[in-house]
Amino acid sequence: MHTLNNVKERKAFAVLEDTILARSARVGVIGLGYVGLPLAAAVARAGFLTVGFDIDHAKVELINAGKSYIDAVASSDLAELKKTMRFSASANFAELSLSDVIIICVPTPLTRHREPDLSYVAATAGTISRYLRQGQIVVLESTSFPGTTIEIVKPILEQDGLKSGEDFFLGFSPEREDPGNIHYETTTIPKIVSGDGPEAKSLIESFYKAVVRTVVTVSSPSVAEAAKITENIFRAVNVALVNELKIIYEAMGIDVWEVIDAAATKPFGFMPFYPGPGLGGHCIPIDPFYLTWKAREFGVFTRFIELAGEINVSMPHYVIGKLEVALDHRFKRSIGSARILVLGIAYKKNVADIRESPSLRIIEILEKRGAKVDFHDPHIPMIPRTREHVELSGRSSVALNNRSIGSYDALIVSTDHDAIDYALVTKHARLLVDTRNVFARHGLNGSNIVKA
Ligand SMILES: NC(=O)c1ccc[n+]([C@@H]2O[C@H](COP(=O)([O-])OP(=O)(O)OC[C@H]3O[C@@H](n4cnc5c(N)ncnc54)[C@H](O)[C@@H]3O)[C@@H](O)[C@H]2O)c1
Repeated sequence: MHTLNNVKERKAFAVLEDTILARSARVGVIGLGYVGLPLAAAVARAGFLTVGFDIDHAKVELINAGKSYIDAVASSDLAELKKTMRFSASANFAELSLSDVIIICVPTPLTRHREPDLSYVAATAGTISRYLRQGQIVVLESTSFPGTTIEIVKPILEQDGLKSGEDFFLGFSPEREDPGNIHYETTTIPKIVSGDGPEAKSLIESFYKAVVRTVVTVSSPSVAEAAKITENIFRAVNVALVNELKIIYEAMGIDVWEVIDAAATKPFGFMPFYPGPGLGGHCIPIDPFYLTWKAREFGVFTRFIELAGEINVSMPHYVIGKLEVALDHRFKRSIGSARILVLGIAYKKNVADIRESPSLRIIEILEKRGAKVDFHDPHIPMIPRTREHVELSGRSSVALNNRSIGSYDALIVSTDHDAIDYALVTKHARLLVDTRNVFARHGLNGSNIVKA
């Protein structure tokens, strides 16, 4: 049921549909980060001639040299793709005019005042608009509040006279990448798709069906945007809930992890979430506040989201409170005179991503109080530059051995990477503050372990 008016438009639609079905469509993926690189590789593997675009020339050069910088894509995968001649990277955005399908995977962070920063999305839409031609599909994948595709991206793309739904086809399809997940990858995670109008929806659906196993089509880009943000809010709120329960049960002398494992034996109506030192990563601590900001426009309050944020942000202080009491009780030592080793600084286990990691916040608070702090992380030999913790950049992971472990007053397990030797740590540490229940999970116990 197509609504295209004239022959030229119908032809553009039919040609695009044919090239997608024949896998002869050319695809451009903009933003080659944690989301864009695995996606571009999957698109190329599905048979499309794919070019990844990034403003970061170093990334472009690495990819063209067959070297990956993202765990989810092995360098050997890039080398394989290179042989097929179907995948390359470019910083020359004029080549976008050759792409039939353009996918936007650029960052959507918060500003310093914790408001949505859509500058990357707007800049990218501006770049695309310069090369936009009839018969192209543009899909936004970056997470944002409902309305972004239609209210922000569409007007920029239309600024030179081309019309969405007639000249080009616009849609939103949220990325659901889960770094470190060994059960799901780009092509096996069901993909929500949407379009601005029935033709866009149909074309975008056809395209993603050619790349991923399951496509879920929804009625509008706003629904797709809202679905993504709902998934992340669901997680943020539930993590906050178990973090609060941790504090309540701790006061009652009850182990929250044992409680959650017991509750999780219920075969329906319960889903386990686990407490920790706070929320990290590029999505969960950030995306909910995109909705909070947008809701204000409608005079609606987002109390659940704000409360969850408040609880999750307070967790590093809770962990440090537990450390403080333990140091005092056991060694009559203050935080300001202590040497602390933080174990794991990635935002979650078995990945090398430190964005928004609560470990960095813990280090920062401890150092402000005068503690001498080091870190060990098997995945992060050196702390890269981050916007919020510039002072920590360049610091190196210390080796983990009998002597180093024993030289600290306390170790805080902030991220429970599998590659850490927890038996060794238990044996030699004077005090262990465990935010992940990792020692119990490894069957290790000792009077030096304090759960936090
Ligand atoms: N990382 C995840 O696990 C994850 C999961 C789901 C959704 N998302 C969402 O996906 C989007 C991208 O996140 P990411 O983690 O891949 O970010 P990232 O920082 O890893 O990668 C973004 C890339 O975009 C490039 N870039 C920035 N501005 C650009 C521009 N104007 N033109 C071209 N390239 C540009 C950067 O150089 C970088 O390589 C965000 O909206 C994020 O919320 C991320």
